[in-house]
Amino acid sequence: ARPPSVSIRGGTYEKDPAWFNVPRTVLDATSRRLHLQPDHPICITRQIIEANFPAPTYRYYNHHSPVVTTHQNFDSLGFPPNHPGRALSDTYYINHETLLRTHTSAHQADTFGANSSDGYLISADVYRRDAIDRSHYPVFHQMEGARSWDRRKVPNGDIAAAVRADLERLPRHNIQVEDPNPPFHEERNPLQECHTAAEAEAIGRHLKRSLELMVVDIFSRARAAAVRDDPNFVDEPLRMRWVEAYFPFTSPSWELEVYYAGDWLEVLGSGVVRQSIYDNAGVPSQQGWAFGLGIDRIAMLLFQIPDIRLFWSQDERFLSQFAGVSDRPDTIKRFVPFSKHPPCPKDVSFWLPLSSSSSSAAGGNDRGAFHENDVMEIVRDVAGNDVEDVRLLDEFTHPATGRKSMAYRIVYRSLEHTLTNEKANGFHQAVRHALVQKLGVELR
Ligand code: PHE
Repeated sequence: ARPPSVSIRGGTYEKDPAWFNVPRTVLDATSRRLHLQPDHPICITRQIIEANFPAPTYRYYNHHSPVVTTHQNFDSLGFPPNHPGRALSDTYYINHETLLRTHTSAHQADTFGANSSDGYLISADVYRRDAIDRSHYPVFHQMEGARSWDRRKVPNGDIAAAVRADLERLPRHNIQVEDPNPPFHEERNPLQECHTAAEAEAIGRHLKRSLELMVVDIFSRARAAAVRDDPNFVDEPLRMRWVEAYFPFTSPSWELEVYYAGDWLEVLGSGVVRQSIYDNAGVPSQQGWAFGLGIDRIAMLLFQIPDIRLFWSQDERFLSQFAGVSDRPDTIKRFVPFSKHPPCPKDVSFWLPLSSSSSSAAGGNDRGAFHENDVMEIVRDVAGNDVEDVRLLDEFTHPATGRKSMAYRIVYRSLEHTLTNEKANGFHQAVRHALVQKLGVELR
């Protein structure tokens, strides 16, 4: 008999039953490609960001299949073999060396080697097993960007001077950005051995200005829409800050945060590309920067979309609100909720089997351990897009038996229709049943 296989976006892949963990709903999402659907907010947001990184300096790649190898997603980027992101509890696998990309960085090495322009942008759907709330969905969209300089092509082979000259050509903005840390830090955010301080500083400054300009553009569009559509809108100055970060494939590294609704919101990760990435891609004479941002989050800010599930809606009351915007991105309107349906919160508590009561911290592919993402997936499987939030209410270990008890609150709510209590009860019964069947828990 032929081994079982699965088709994804025109490719056929052999399933290893010991590894395959992609639920039907997630498989179905691989064909949606919201970032390419005209007049969809994810697509519009991609177009607006792309306009900030113009061709021909930047080349756009928007058609990569989501199926990649563990080498592309992890090894090529320097992730250690025991990195928690590799675990079955966090990542969707087809077989032990094939998975649904968890980030667009999976295409970095290939693109650095093949790209003939100075820079590139890659937009794509990415997949992660994760929590359930209004800003997390197992499928979301990222944009990867990079800009490189080639020692053999810049005047006198002086990359620092070439980067500074390009920086002079970038527009300026008048936002005061908080950037309290030094451009690199010996221990926390080190310079690479092969870079001079001048090179890393110049690349870092070019990176920061490029990304700040993009955020300023997004927020000025969001503000224009708010001023026009919302009589109660209180205009507040845009606040941004750079914080030190760590990624195995960049150094120094930073995250950009934007102050929004009383909180600092992380919008992207970035850094000076590690030389080993260029070396392995066959372009050792290059240096430069890279970033990765979440398109869905930015689209939520831009259009004031309150729940990430809405992007997957096929309801005309959602989609029609963005008609024509792909062609006229200056006509952004705030999303108007088509009606608010009541939430149905329900609690469930259970004892874990003794074998998994010592829930190991994520890491390794240990199957015995309890992983919260398994609860999330059971709820998604049962309720589909009719679940809004799943939150741990309480956990404790019985002092005598050593057994662990967990209590979760599940909020069922539909974005498109009213959920009857009967239907929510049906979901909840099915969730309770599946928790026993699949995780071997004992309901309390
Ligand atoms: N891939 C990283 C993430 O998903 C973001 C990133 C991209 C950081 C490129 C640095 C450079 O978190």
